[in-house]
Amino acid sequence: MKLRYTVILLLSVCTQLYSQYIISDEFENKIDSLIAIMTLEEKVGQMTQVSLEAITEEGRNRIVTEPIHLDLAKTRELILKYKVGSILNTGEAANSIDKWHEVITQLQDIALEESRLKIPIIYGIDAIHGANYTLNATLFPQSISLAASRNKELVRKSAEITALEMKASGIPWNFNPVLGLGREPYWPRFWETFGEDSYLASQFGYEYVLGIQGNDPSARTSGAACIKHYIGYSIPNNGQDRTPAWIPERKLRDLLLPPFAKGVEAGALTVMVNSSEINGIPVHSDYNLLTKVLKDELGFKGFVVSDWLDVKRLHTRDGIASTPKEAVKIAVMAGIDMSMVPLDVSFAVLLKELAEEGEVPISRIDDAVRRILRVKYIVGLFDNPYPDKSLIQEFSSEESAQFSRKAAQESIVLLKNEESILPLKNNLKILLTGPTANKLMYLNGGWSYVWQGNKEELYPQEKNTLYEALQLQYGNDNVEYVEGVTTNSIIDIDEAVKAAEKADVIIASLGEEPYCETPGNIKDLTLDEAQLKLIDELSKTGKPIVLVLYQGRPRLISKIVDKVDAVVLGMLPGLEGADATVDIISGKVNPSAKLPFTYPKYPAGNTTYDHKPIEAYEDVWSFPQWNFGYGLSYTSYSYENLEVSNADSINDTIKVSVEVSNTGDREGKEIVELYIRDVYGSVSRPVKQLKGFQKIDLKPGEKKTVNFILTPDQLSFHNRENIKTIEPGEFWIMIENLTQKIILN
Ligand code: BGC
Repeated sequence: MKLRYTVILLLSVCTQLYSQYIISDEFENKIDSLIAIMTLEEKVGQMTQVSLEAITEEGRNRIVTEPIHLDLAKTRELILKYKVGSILNTGEAANSIDKWHEVITQLQDIALEESRLKIPIIYGIDAIHGANYTLNATLFPQSISLAASRNKELVRKSAEITALEMKASGIPWNFNPVLGLGREPYWPRFWETFGEDSYLASQFGYEYVLGIQGNDPSARTSGAACIKHYIGYSIPNNGQDRTPAWIPERKLRDLLLPPFAKGVEAGALTVMVNSSEINGIPVHSDYNLLTKVLKDELGFKGFVVSDWLDVKRLHTRDGIASTPKEAVKIAVMAGIDMSMVPLDVSFAVLLKELAEEGEVPISRIDDAVRRILRVKYIVGLFDNPYPDKSLIQEFSSEESAQFSRKAAQESIVLLKNEESILPLKNNLKILLTGPTANKLMYLNGGWSYVWQGNKEELYPQEKNTLYEALQLQYGNDNVEYVEGVTTNSIIDIDEAVKAAEKADVIIASLGEEPYCETPGNIKDLTLDEAQLKLIDELSKTGKPIVLVLYQGRPRLISKIVDKVDAVVLGMLPGLEGADATVDIISGKVNPSAKLPFTYPKYPAGNTTYDHKPIEAYEDVWSFPQWNFGYGLSYTSYSYENLEVSNADSINDTIKVSVEVSNTGDREGKEIVELYIRDVYGSVSRPVKQLKGFQKIDLKPGEKKTVNFILTPDQLSFHNRENIKTIEPGEFWIMIENLTQKIILN
């Protein structure tokens, strides 16, 4: 049998390069021979994933600053008796690189030296913004920030460094990227997404997968990516984590599926499933989505892993299965290949029983095992499952930290700058105030050393907080810090006001505590009262205020936005994020980021930029604080000569060009975005859809022509009958303030 797993690399809009992983006959034959001699126990064990806490002496009670120890008896029981094939997680807190080497080596020793078939363990981790479960790893801006940079190279390279640093710890599998869309600002995982737009998420997801996997996932510095959470997790109806979504087929296919399709096209080796339900069907039980759409239609050849506990939850939470055993049957038959059980081996025990009873056919189990073994081969585990010690030298290099700083510089969005108050000159007396100014955790958010990212003692203390970065730039004597408030309570606002009276300018650093998943649920999107009050009182001093926001989602600031002179949106810029913020504030760097989401103004009535005409009609749409794509610079740009050619028929590949000039006096990077509007359709069409973006450098006075190509596929959508089609008629091609109308036959 000859099986080819094709990866198409689309490196830029214009150039195409092709590459492929070839699953050789040799691999497939080896997998066949292995499956032929595997016992049922060995097979269901391969499909079982447990968490490290299940096999450490410390279990779930680790002191986060203390090292963990494997409970070897328990480890042997799980790997040798129950044949467990995969382990995840960090044991409650990040480990040193040496500890990782010790743990991974012990696990592989047991799997390879003591087990019958010597199948290596595949170890997986949430390396969400760098190898964040290894102490001192390079931490990048979170995805929501990277998306603001609109710089594909930053996404690709940050993923490459992440892969290198995971591999330096001996870990080949990353549970990232999140390819759900950030269209629901309450959702506590908003910041794990690349923002609200389907095209943007598709492009960045593609780059991220290639960054992790490279051309050869078995290479020394590459591994396996996991596109997640398939599908629909990010738009729960009530905004809270792990709550139901109702998603019509058209929305699913036009908006939510494309990033996953692109991730599969990039060759993503694994997929993790949405913990929640769509249209009343828990996705872990959805044969249509997992098998028919993902595996058959998209041609996904890797394996599907459940999310944490979610097979069991079909019984314990969703009431889809009346027993835990039925839950296993439903999940496996729907298309789950590996269960993140994660604290016991019940899945393996129950699946074995189901197979023996003929309730789950061996063919389904063999298919799952084949997919898992295939990934183990492709990432090179059969050749070398041990940590590569030589990689330690490349771990957490100064060069990687500098790259993270550059990524943060390009990710921070300047949203307001009245009377060009920024950049701030040297020799000013600065009052720094607010809760997020002097801890590294506020720059990083969740998935940082611990799940919730909230253990400041684990952060590398030599990195700068905003307070320290400002002192470095403006001098210790010129920067006074008065906290004023915590994120949700008043400490002493009077003290901050008194200090403000002596200062030339106030920098208020507000935002959110770090959080991740369900603990990050909120019931009110408005920034907390205490923080709003701080700005209220400070504004009475008449001193200019620069507002800096470190937060994972767009907390409402409409009550204070008119009281501040500048707004610098840091979101979660990572470990070098404070230095990057000061690079922007001081003008060392010209801001170049644009919002990857619509920043809401009001608690209700919010919508995304690609809303329907009816939402912008008369006064229905509650106008946002800032639009998707908004972001200021210290220079100015002008656009002219938007030209559209080869645009006659719906089958044409349309050429678009525009001239962009830097009309200010500073060099800058401008993000040029191409939008379309399909004016008349059998179903109502969005008022605007992003179809291309490029980031260009422009010197003062310089003009460049930027070219785009629009393919027929980019004009297509699911029509009234839910059939993917392009409908002839009027289209608008829009770049910045320019619009060209075309008619396609
Ligand atoms: C999250 C996943 C994550 C998994 C393993 C789950 O709670 O939803 O995104 O990969 O835990 O840590």
